[in-house]
Formats: sequence, structure tokens, C-alpha cells
Amino acid sequence: PLPVLIAPSILSADFGHLADDVRDVVNRGADWIHVDVMDGRFVPNITMGPVVVEGIRPVTDRPLDVHLMIVEPERYLEDFARAGAERISVHAEATPHLHRALEMIHGLGKLAGVALNPSTPVSAIYHVAENLDLVLLMTVNPGFGGQSFIRPMLTKIRETRDWLDRQGLTHVPIEVDGGINPETAKWAIESGATVMVAGSAIFRAPDRTLMIQQIRQAASH
Ligand code: DX5
Ligand code: ZN
Repeated sequence: PLPVLIAPSILSADFGHLADDVRDVVNRGADWIHVDVMDGRFVPNITMGPVVVEGIRPVTDRPLDVHLMIVEPERYLEDFARAGAERISVHAEATPHLHRALEMIHGLGKLAGVALNPSTPVSAIYHVAENLDLVLLMTVNPGFGGQSFIRPMLTKIRETRDWLDRQGLTHVPIEVDGGINPETAKWAIESGATVMVAGSAIFRAPDRTLMIQQIRQAASH
């Protein structure tokens, strides 16, 4: 079985001390660093671009997991690849040419993910099965940290896991993003997700080490 991985979202970090916050969560057990890129068009919020990825790249050896919530992501794939992303996820809803976008990411030597909004059916990935390294299921509507986990997404996680397994893609992890805490992580892991993105739960925790540990072990007892 795939290991449970923790990917703190730096959207909830202190941007005045971003490098310190990245180092801190890595020292406390983070596996990947999740970077939420928003353009004020695909989602109603603006966050960070390639320069921020470039800025944190030397701070850690951990993979930078870049989540593009931008329209026409093809236009910026090269910039994010060059800036040091290890994996890049694009939203199926953000491009009419999903297959091409995934091929571009691979052409840049990076791992490719498809992100789906809560209302987007799992079938959006059916015809890009061979181009998937990761499936990112939104468990909130993207745009902001600190929202509540949408519980009906649990059946979507299960459906996605079953479909991936039937395709022989047992090595492709499902990442869940939005409203993850030890309680919702337990549900998500039991439904078949293994990569846990968490922003506010980790960065606002009084004890980040404990929080990362609790999310990782959420389903193990
Ligand atoms: C939502 C972002 C998430 C978000 C998660 O638009 O993609 O990564 O920062 O934040 P929390 O964990 O606070 O819901
Ligand atoms: Zn995200």
C-alpha cells in the first residue's frame, strides 16, 4: 500500500518568514511542500507565482508540490518547472486541453497531477489515465484556506481509488486538499486517499509536530 504523506500548504504560512516556516514544517515531519498558486480568475483569490517556488527551492530537499489554480495553465508550466517544482497539478476545469497540459509537464521532466473541483466528476480523468502521476481531489471549493471539508467527497475518493486500481494504476496516489485535520484525514485515508494537504491545521497548530503526526496516523487506530 502507498504510504500516507503529509503536504503542508504554505498558503497558511507566514509570508514574512516563509523560509523559516518551510524549514520548520520539514523539521517536524512534512513529506512534501504544497504550493497553492491562484490567479484571481480560476479562483477568487491571488497568491503566489514562480518566484516564490524559486525562493523556497533552496530551503529544503523536500519535493515542491505545485497546485495550479489558474486558467490556461499551459502558459506557465515551463516557468514553474524551471523554478523547481517536482510535481505540477493542473485543474481539469482550467484547460480544454488537459491531455496536452499533462504531456507538457512530462516533457519538462516533472510529475503530472490532475486536480478536480468538488463538483467535477471522476470521469474527467478517464481519458488521461496514462498521463497521471497523481490525482488531487479538492475537498473544499478552491480559493481559500480554513474552509470545512465537504463530506460527500468521501464517496468520490473511493470511486477514484477503485477506478485507478482497475486501471492498474495502484501506484498513483490520491491527494486530498481542503479542510484536512486528524478527523477528516481519518475518513479520507479510509476512503483511499494517501497524500494529505493541510494548511491551517498545521500552520495554526500549537504543536505542529504533534499535528503532523496525528494526521499521518489518523487512520491507524
Ligand atoms: C484551497 C487550497 C488548499 C488550502 C488548504 O484552495 O488549494 O491547499 O490551502 O487549506 P486548509 O488546510 O486550511 O483547508
Ligand atoms: Zn492546494
